[in-house]
Amino acid sequence: MTTASHIAATAGTIRDGLDEAERASRDQIQALQLKRLAWSIRHAYDNVAHFRQRCAAMDVHPDDLRQLSDLQRFPLTVKTDLRDTYPFGLFAVPRERIARLHGSSGTTGKPVVVGYTARDLDMWADVVARSLRAAGVRPGMMVHNAYGYGLFTGGLGAHYGAERLGCAVVPVSGGMTERQVQLIQDFRPDAIMVTPSYMLALLDGFIKAGIDPRQSSLRFGIFGAEPWSNALRVEIEKTFGLDATDIYGLSEVIGPGVAQECVETKDGLHIWEDHFYPEVIDPQTGAVLPDGELGELVFTSLTKEAFPIIRYRTRDLTRLLPGTARPGMRRMEKVTGRSDDMVILRGVNVFPTQIEELLLETSWSSGHYQLELTRPGRMDELTVHAEVRVEEFPSLDTERVAQELARRIKANLGVSTHVALLAPGGLERSLGKARRVVDNRPKDR
Ligand code: DLL
Repeated sequence: MTTASHIAATAGTIRDGLDEAERASRDQIQALQLKRLAWSIRHAYDNVAHFRQRCAAMDVHPDDLRQLSDLQRFPLTVKTDLRDTYPFGLFAVPRERIARLHGSSGTTGKPVVVGYTARDLDMWADVVARSLRAAGVRPGMMVHNAYGYGLFTGGLGAHYGAERLGCAVVPVSGGMTERQVQLIQDFRPDAIMVTPSYMLALLDGFIKAGIDPRQSSLRFGIFGAEPWSNALRVEIEKTFGLDATDIYGLSEVIGPGVAQECVETKDGLHIWEDHFYPEVIDPQTGAVLPDGELGELVFTSLTKEAFPIIRYRTRDLTRLLPGTARPGMRRMEKVTGRSDDMVILRGVNVFPTQIEELLLETSWSSGHYQLELTRPGRMDELTVHAEVRVEEFPSLDTERVAQELARRIKANLGVSTHVALLAPGGLERSLGKARRVVDNRPKDR
C-alpha cells in the first residue's frame, strides 16, 4: 500500500459526533491495527537503516508480522537510539518532505528531535481534536492554551487540535501568570489546556487578584504533560468548578493526543489505538505483560510517515484496561509515575504523586511541593518541601502539621521523611512541567 492511500484511509470526520474509529468494535480496531502495523513496520524497515540493522541483529523481518502479537519479536526502541542518531537518523522520508520539527531538551546531552510530514500534522490535529471533544469541548468554544509554544509539542499540538475541532484558540503559552488571569477574565474562555502544576499557579493568580476562581468562565480543563494525582483533579475541579480530564502524549510518539480521558467516565485514558499501538512490558526483562498488569508503557506508531516509531519505551508506568466510553479502544490507567521520577528510599519505591495525594488530604496544602533527596550520613533522606495556602499560613501551627504529615506518609507509604513547610510562593514556579524531585545527594555515589 502506498503511504498516501494508507493515510487517506485514516481521515475521520469530527463534524458529526464521534470519529469512525471511536465507534468501531474491538474486532474492527484490531483488524485495522494489523493492516496499519504491517505498513508501519515495512515503512520503517525500508527507510530507516538503524531499524533495519536492529531487525537484522534480532533475525526478524517485516514478513514475520502475521498477527498483532508478532510485534513482540521486533526490537524495542529507547531514548538513546534517538540520541545516537541525532538529529535526523530515524527519519523515514527525505528532508524536503518534513513540514515541522519538534524536540525535547531533556536533562542531559543532546535534545531529541522528531519530524512530521504535512500528513502527520494533519493526523495529529485530528487526534488532539478528538481528545478535546472527549474532554467535553465543542466546536465554537474558546480554548485558553497555556501549554508552552516552541520546540515542546504541547503548545502547537494543542493549538492545531483545538482549531481543527472548530474552537477559537487563545495562544498564551506559559508564564506571565497575572496577565493570564486577566485574559481569562476578559475573554471568558470555556476551556483551558495547561499542565496541572501551572493550573495551581493560575489559581494563586486568581486569589492574588481577589477573584473567586469558581466565578471564572472555565468549564473544561485538559491537563497533562506530567503526572498528577486524582486528588489534584478533585482539588482543581472544586476550586474552579470545572471538569478536569487527563491528556497524555510524548514527542517521540507524536505529542499530546496519544490518549485522553473521556469526561463522561473520568476512568483513565482511552488510547487512540487506530494510530498508536500500546504494549506494557516488564521493565526488567522486556517481556510483554497481559492487559491489567502494571509495567512500562511501549508505543508503536501505526500511521506516522516522517518518524515511524517502533516499540518505543516510554518509561511511564501504567496498565492497559478494556475500553469503556469508547469500547473498541483500550484505556491506560492514569500515569502516576515515571520510572525516572521514582524515589527508592531504603528499598521502598515512592512516586511524587503518592505524596501529592497525602498532601492534598490536608487542609493547609496549596498543592505546590517538591521532594529533595539528600545523603547527610550513609543513608538517603527525603524531605518534602510543601507550601501552605495563603489563607491558612498566618495561624498555622507548622511544626505540628509537619509532624502529622510525616506520620501519615510513614503510615501510608512506609517511609520516613522530613516535612518542611514553606510560606506561599516559597517554591519556584515552573512554566510548564513541574520539577518534582531534586537530587542533592553527593555525586560520587
Ligand atoms: O509532554 C506531550 C504533552 C503535552 C502531553 C501536553 C500532554 C499535554 P514530552 O515533553 O515528550 O511530551 O514528555 C512526555 O511526559 O513520557 C510522560 O512521562 C509525561 N506525560 C505526558 N502526559 C502525561 C500525563 C509531552 N497525562 C512525557 N500524565 C511522558 C502523566 C504525562 N505523565
